[in-house]
Amino acid sequence: MTILVSGATGFVGGAITRHLLDAGFSVRAMTRSAERATAKLGAHEIGRRALVEGRLTFVEADVTKPASLGGAVDGVGAVIQAAQFDGAPVEDPARGLTYMEVDRNGTMNLLGAVAQVYGRPTAGPVMARYPDGSPRFLYMSGISVATRGQEPWNRAKWQAEEAIRGSGLDWTIVRGCWAYGRDDAALNRLLHYSDKLPFLPIFGRGDELQNPLFVEDIGRLFVLLMSNPDKARDTTFGLGGPDTVTLNGFLRLALETMGRRRPILHIPKRIGKVQGAIAQHLPGRPLTPDAVDFVSQVGVVTEADRQLLAERFPEFTTTALREGLESYLRRR
Ligand SMILES: NC(=O)c1ccc[n+]([C@@H]2O[C@H](COP(=O)([O-])OP(=O)(O)OC[C@H]3O[C@@H](n4cnc5c(N)ncnc54)[C@H](OP(=O)(O)O)[C@@H]3O)[C@@H](O)[C@H]2O)c1
Repeated sequence: MTILVSGATGFVGGAITRHLLDAGFSVRAMTRSAERATAKLGAHEIGRRALVEGRLTFVEADVTKPASLGGAVDGVGAVIQAAQFDGAPVEDPARGLTYMEVDRNGTMNLLGAVAQVYGRPTAGPVMARYPDGSPRFLYMSGISVATRGQEPWNRAKWQAEEAIRGSGLDWTIVRGCWAYGRDDAALNRLLHYSDKLPFLPIFGRGDELQNPLFVEDIGRLFVLLMSNPDKARDTTFGLGGPDTVTLNGFLRLALETMGRRRPILHIPKRIGKVQGAIAQHLPGRPLTPDAVDFVSQVGVVTEADRQLLAERFPEFTTTALREGLESYLRRR
């Protein structure tokens, strides 16, 4: 079966793509530049092998451009939406780089393309079902969608989720906690500060609880979701790592894994937001007030989330934080 993955060259979508390929699936990787994508995914042994075997192909498309999506969704068994706008979480509305544009509208555009190619369901939204042979739709959402509604990222993802749930396709939504791994942007950026600075600066008190999630676990879960459609159908999963730590604890463990000792410098959020209010007018838009909220939010799963995953996929376990960090940070 061929699976369309949007965001296949990204951090999360890249892990999903690698694991799907490793499990024997074929992936049509959506990208805005097939040349860059070939270099990126082909740099990995799994990608290189899949390219040779013809199981990894590319489609140039853009989730914000509906006309580019018909060919992308045509003939696939599933669509996995894991695209994120360049520079996230720093939005840039003037360039269309927002959660609403890529998360919500991008998802709706993909659903619209599926409707055009496979024919819209005829009944009302609850009973409606696409004909057999239509693709499943899987979406990488965020854990905070469950608990908070006002922030732009939660609003956009909630509306994307609602569109998916009402689409008439077989759907699966995974709400992930903060993901970390070799190629992540967020944790690596923070840790890079410790290359130059004698401290690690973060916004807020750092006491927000997290279930940091090893990105390879996301990839492994998507293989199970793809391999077991009956267990995944029409379900929203919350996915987090097994450890519950504060942001401070997460960063201290990462530093310790690297063999570094750095105090964490807490910049009050209100000062961060003033910085963001100024920085959003600078070239490159390095920070916005909303981004300060994004990087200092709580991100934990509930006991019900853990139980649901354990019931559906008893064979699935998530990686202990120390083990996940040690698998790549020691070698930096
Ligand atoms: N990272 C986390 O901690 C985390 C946690 C929970 C949930 N999530 C969710 O997982 C998803 C992926 O996040 P990520 O961290 O992997 O982001 P990322 O690495 O920044 O993703 C970038 C990917 O999105 C693609 N992309 C960007 N704009 C696009 C567009 N207009 N049309 C098509 N593709 C586009 C890029 O493709 P090209 O550049 O090749 O075109 C690239 O493959 C997001 O929905 C995010 O909210 C992430």
